[in-house]
Formats: sequence, C-alpha cells, structure tokens
Amino acid sequence: MNLTLRIWRQTGPDAPGALTRYQVSGISPEMSFLEMLDTLNEELILTGEQPIAFDHDCREGICGACGMVINGQAHGPERTTTCQLHMRHFRDGDTIDVEPWRAAAFPVVKDLVVDRSAFDRIIGSGGYITAPTGSAPEAHATPVPKEAADLAFEHAECIGCGACVAACPNGSAMLFTAAKVVHLNALPQGAPERATRTRSMVATMDAEGFGGCTNTGECATACPKGIPLSGISLLNRDFLRRA
Ligand code: SF4
Ligand code: FES
Repeated sequence: MNLTLRIWRQTGPDAPGALTRYQVSGISPEMSFLEMLDTLNEELILTGEQPIAFDHDCREGICGACGMVINGQAHGPERTTTCQLHMRHFRDGDTIDVEPWRAAAFPVVKDLVVDRSAFDRIIGSGGYITAPTGSAPEAHATPVPKEAADLAFEHAECIGCGACVAACPNGSAMLFTAAKVVHLNALPQGAPERATRTRSMVATMDAEGFGGCTNTGECATACPKGIPLSGISLLNRDFLRRA
C-alpha cells in the first residue's frame, strides 16, 4: 500500500504544531498502525530527520499507552487500540490524518505524545482498597456475589488509554473515572471506602480540568474495552448518595 500521511508535529509543549505531510510506500495490509509508523520513522532516521514521537508499550491492546486520533476518530476506524488497528482497514492511496489526543487536561508533550498523568492523579486519590497486607487470604474468605463480581470485572477492563476523553466534545473523563470507581465500589472489599473514594476521585477529576458530562455517549462508542455508559450512571448514583 502507498499512503499519504498528514501527521501532527510539535517539538514541545509550548511550541506551535502543524500537520506535516509524508509519503509511505510498501506498507503491508497486515501491519499494525504502529508498525506503519515504525516504517516511516526508520525512513526519517535514515534521512537525518527527527522520528515521530508516539507512545506505545505492550502493542497487545492491554497497557493503554498507545493512542492517537486517526482521521478524526480516537484510535481510528475500528473499536480497538491503535496498536491493534491494522492497515487492512485503509485503502491503497488513502490520505490519513494523525493527531494527538485533544483535551485540555492532556497537554501535548511532543508530536503524538500527550501527558496523561491526570489519570494517575485521579487513581491516586481513591482508586485503591486500603487493607492490611500479609499472606494471601483464603479465596472464599470474602464471598463476592456473582452479579457484583461481573460488574467489577466489566469495569476493571479499563486500560486508561484516554480515548474516552479524546472522543468527548467536552473532554470529560467521566467514563474513565466511572470505570475506576465502579470496579472497586462494586466489591465488598471496596465498600468501607465507597463514599470517600467516590467524592475524592470526582473532586480530583474536576480539579484536573476535565470537562463535564453532557451524555453525548461518544466516550463509550470510542472505548476499546467496551466500558458501558451505564457506569457513569452508577458513579453519579454513588456520588449523589454519598455526597
Ligand atoms: S474507559 Fe475506555 S476509553 Fe476510557 S480510558 Fe478506560 S479503556 Fe480507555
Ligand atoms: S501499546 Fe499497549 S495498548 Fe497499545
């Protein structure tokens, strides 16, 4: 495949950025989107140009590090992570626009890399269970109802990629925060800190500059892990009850 890429280049957080045009050829439809960018970067390095900076780690759809806006969609045309997006979803001769996540709370670090440490601070303000450490407890010491376990697992799938924020017209982190709150609040082990966790994580989310939720639902549509929009309702319920 031969492609034209228009990629956001920005040398630093305060530098002006712009879409820069590149041509790539010999791209296999079986390559992942990141492998296609690797191919371009190898060419840029050989010609003495700065390679394009982008985040990645596992390349298996589990770490949440990769993420970019491809042709206006968070993670591109498929509901998956950018590392799991394959070039067969594009056509030979296509022009593809590639930009970083666009959100006030995710400032651009360089090119396609954004600072998502705001997510870490939300988790740090309550995304844990305080319990004495020691040897592992008996598996059945704390019975967990099946319904609660399913709810917790469903929300624990969030990988913190940030696509929900990038897709939201308000730059809201409600789906991410809901996933982190619900997966702990649903469990008996999370119950003692349910009120403080909910209040604290919502307060941190607001303080980090994420926008408010207006129920557009773009977040759940873009989420590669299928975190349901109903999680936001559960978060709001807990917040109103406990606030
Ligand atoms: S809720 Fe979905 S889109 Fe948002 S950070 Fe978690 S996995 Fe990514
Ligand atoms: S690099 Fe880990 S999810 Fe894409």
